[in-house]
Amino acid sequence: MKLRNAPFRIVPFGPFSQEMEGVLEIYTASTRCTASEARGYIRSTAQEREFRGWVALAGQKVAGMAFGASIGKGHWWWDDMVGGLKAAAADLEGAWALNELGVAETWRRRGVATTLLRVVEGSLPGRTLVLSTAEVNVAARTLYQSCGWEERGIVPIGVGGRRCVIFVRPADNPV
Ligand SMILES: CC(C)(COP(=O)(O)OP(=O)(O)OC[C@H]1O[C@@H](n2cnc3c(N)ncnc32)[C@H](O)[C@@H]1OP(=O)(O)O)[C@@H](O)C(=O)NCCC(=O)NCCS
Repeated sequence: MKLRNAPFRIVPFGPFSQEMEGVLEIYTASTRCTASEARGYIRSTAQEREFRGWVALAGQKVAGMAFGASIGKGHWWWDDMVGGLKAAAADLEGAWALNELGVAETWRRRGVATTLLRVVEGSLPGRTLVLSTAEVNVAARTLYQSCGWEERGIVPIGVGGRRCVIFVRPADNPV
């Protein structure tokens, strides 16, 4: 893993951490969300079961962030994303979902996301992990494949027909 001698360190964060501004900057830069919408989203995710969040800190600067929580039927993420897999989702009830992963543009291709993923995986031993990314997001798909995540299927999201790939990291796939 790239953490050894890395110019950043990984620390936990929550919606009331001082790192939130940096997290919001990264999140809003790669989505259409406003900072206020993003803050609300992170606060509500933090209420969910087994919420975990981490930031990569380079000095005081937030270089990357990752957060998620566990999911099940009735949860929007389950219903909108994983549910689209139908029978292929049978073993994902109660899995832990990595809702968001992002790296500041100036920090990309330096192992930040890989390191965050390794921390996520190491913090949830024995758990099946799941995430989704846009089908067109080649950077993210390459990253997840290189870290041993497996593509489970593609689901259309919303009326616009945007397609997301669901990736799974099985519990028996050791870090
Ligand atoms: C996807 C993203 C998180 C990758 O972060 P990163 O810190 O640059 O990733 P890493 O440095 O750990 O890259 C690990 C590997 O992933 C692959 N990868 C990363 N970015 C890539 C790109 N732009 N094109 C192709 N492959 C890429 C490479 O295999 C890379 O290894 P290498 O640099 O040795 O070739 C980052 O580009 C990002 O924040 N994008 C916008 C938000 C986003 O798409 N988040 C994921 C959505 S779920």
